[in-house]
Amino acid sequence: VPCPVPPYINSDTDSFAFTSARSRWPVILTGIVDDLSRTTLESDGEKSEEGKALIEKVGALKYEVEHDRTLVPLEDDGLYDVALYNSELERQGPMSWGSAPWLYSECYMYRKLYGYLQTTAHWKEYDFFARQKLDAFKSSEVAVAELAIRYKTLSGQLHGSVSKEQLHLLFREFIDISLWGNATDLSLLTNLSLDQLQSLQGEKARKESEKNILVNDVDKAWDAIFSVEGGRVDLILDNAGFEFYTDVLFALFLLDSELADTVVLHPKAMPWFVSDVLPVDLPVLINALGSASVFTMAREEIDFLREQLVKYNEEGKIIVRSSGFWTTSLAFWEIRENGLGGGHEVWQDLKESKLAILKGDLNYRKLTYDAAWPRTTPFSTAIGPLATNQVKLFSLRTCKADVVVGLTEGKEEELEKAWVDITSAKGMPETGKGWAWSGKWAVMPFSSGEN
Ligand code: F6P
Ligand code: MG
Repeated sequence: VPCPVPPYINSDTDSFAFTSARSRWPVILTGIVDDLSRTTLESDGEKSEEGKALIEKVGALKYEVEHDRTLVPLEDDGLYDVALYNSELERQGPMSWGSAPWLYSECYMYRKLYGYLQTTAHWKEYDFFARQKLDAFKSSEVAVAELAIRYKTLSGQLHGSVSKEQLHLLFREFIDISLWGNATDLSLLTNLSLDQLQSLQGEKARKESEKNILVNDVDKAWDAIFSVEGGRVDLILDNAGFEFYTDVLFALFLLDSELADTVVLHPKAMPWFVSDVLPVDLPVLINALGSASVFTMAREEIDFLREQLVKYNEEGKIIVRSSGFWTTSLAFWEIRENGLGGGHEVWQDLKESKLAILKGDLNYRKLTYDAAWPRTTPFSTAIGPLATNQVKLFSLRTCKADVVVGLTEGKEEELEKAWVDITSAKGMPETGKGWAWSGKWAVMPFSSGEN
């Protein structure tokens, strides 16, 4: 389905697309070369030879990005989505790295990298980002321990008699944790007990962090969950490491509280956008949590959490299901009857869920076509056919890109001014636009699928 509004493009000097294509991608590609070099050094024989060839290919891709070369059709590596990428490239017209639509070119870059792996015998399953993901997770040890302690306390209370109001509060709390787990800045996270939550102090702390949530439909999401007994909730995942840990925590809460019978996790099927969750990241998480040398604090509480996770996974209450659709370049407008690229199957699947929660920035960009909508555009307009296709969805997104919709009149101007003030005070004045990709603000819009 085509979008009536043009997408953000890499030549837009005012947009984060511009900086991404020029500064961030070359750094990401250099990181991949470094990672490949390390693994190649540890390998021998054919694997080592293949490693060297991969390093050369990634280096050549970096050169093309930096020199504004034209995007050429992907080589056939036997996977179904190649034809889709190539027909999209044809449909959107000839493009070069410096002026291509941001969303398409960024997805294309990661898909091209994955294609390189598919031409090898020994690197097909390789995740360039695995080291980085695990290192980052380890470095969040303090927050991991704090949340494990909190989870153990709460889950003890959940088996007593918990009122609907208390559950509602806890739901909001776990949603907040999972939302800000998507930001690099976790300072907005409140960390309060059930009692404190209900006290004035809790209310105040919550209001404080809520100020930065520009669109907040959490209570609509709550209604969608609470109005159906048991049932299934879906999490369309984003990043591995700490964010994934907060998502798992939310899944455990839903199951412990019996707000859901099943939680389906949807990771990506290939290494994607540096840190996205792959199916293997669930066992990686379970292992890391089990390692007393990785996580030294709060061992008892972390073990408890880990056992719950393993148990629910074995019982089939936490399910992992991936689709190639998540790594196409297509907008989520294809999640519909006869949708392209696996969109139809995802639609059939998500219709069965009482709530599909989409984590993170990229998923939001795909919901809204990464198009340059006026920021007061209603979310229901920006998600096109998804607004009426019977999928109940809830997006948890800290803003790290240009596209933002659903703001009230005058809000954008206020945010631009605030951002100029913040950056000037730090002695690094920016235009006001940067608030939208600073990760300091968030949006949590809901769609009932029934508009
Ligand atoms: O910071 C920009 C960016 O890399 C975008 O290219 C991408 O949409 C996003 O961040 C990834 O963030 P998230 O992991 O929240 O989807
Ligand atoms: Mg991501």
